[in-house]
Amino acid sequence: MIVSTAELFKAAYGKFAIGAYNINNMEQALGLFQGHVEAQAPFIIQISKGARKYAGVKMLEAIIRACDEEFPEAIYAVHLDHGDEQTCYECIDSGFYSSVMIDASHESFEENVAITRRIVDRAHAKGLSVEAELGMLGGVEEHVSVDEKNASLTNPDEAKAFVEQSGCDSLAVAIGTSHGAYKFSGSQGLHFDVTAEIQKRLPGFPLVMHGSSSVPQDEVARINAAGGALDSSAKGVDETQFAKAVPLGVTKINIDTDGRLVWTRVHRESFRDDPKNFDFRKPGKEYVRAYADFMVNKSKALLSFGTLPQVRAAVRAAKG
Ligand code: G3H
Ligand code: 13P
Ligand code: ZN
Repeated sequence: MIVSTAELFKAAYGKFAIGAYNINNMEQALGLFQGHVEAQAPFIIQISKGARKYAGVKMLEAIIRACDEEFPEAIYAVHLDHGDEQTCYECIDSGFYSSVMIDASHESFEENVAITRRIVDRAHAKGLSVEAELGMLGGVEEHVSVDEKNASLTNPDEAKAFVEQSGCDSLAVAIGTSHGAYKFSGSQGLHFDVTAEIQKRLPGFPLVMHGSSSVPQDEVARINAAGGALDSSAKGVDETQFAKAVPLGVTKINIDTDGRLVWTRVHRESFRDDPKNFDFRKPGKEYVRAYADFMVNKSKALLSFGTLPQVRAAVRAAKG
């Protein structure tokens, strides 16, 4: 069942985080739904501009609608990830999405507020909520590349002013994470002191942690042992940190790179171990199973494992 992102945030705030995962194809969607039904956890499906271009807007919607029928127990929201203004409008008008993210974090504060405000007005009129971003994550996003060294953390006073002026419903904050597989060169640089300061100024307001893949070392090692050439300095967010982020208001945690690593490991190992195979369904099936297992484990780290009954009750109560 597709629900509003606001409903999920209301049920989760301060108790657990909703995992937000990008999909691009059928196998990812099957693993995502299967894993979350097994984990009895709610989730957010994220669709990036790149995914819309790769699979096609209609195809992605059709895949999600088919999964909705196959997995009637699932409770989830559908969200545009890192949208620009035009793509936000397209998603708002499509009637399919629960929420959109407008990423104008590369603009000046004033311009970011103005763009976000325009999206908020249009989204709220149609019952969608809006995630905005303030501060700059390191790493590479679709339309903006920021050197890790220049990545600036979210300023807590600005965060309060930004939320008040823009009217956004959740805020992606830069607290030391970055996109991709190479997040930290030295020790883990998560700034929960900054997160706590933001929460003090915005009590009860959902914060979003992008760039939260954990880039498991054993996954990287298995990929490389099966013919991959990933830099072994690849390093991500220690997933035990999620439980510390939740009481600080982090309600949505974005994970994409880890899923790509699962895909790469399964396919590399499968073709290495069975070099005569040319039936894509064999690794495809293995991948769906592995991705479902991955979801079950992630939901434990996010504290969302087993929360589906309470989320279902909250959704029903809200509907009256
Ligand atoms: O933050 C971006 C997500 O990992 C989506 O990646 O833009 O390559 O689809 P993508
Ligand atoms: P990762 O690259 O850490 O998976 O982050 C994904 C993300 O933030 C999507 O918006
Ligand atoms: Zn992101």
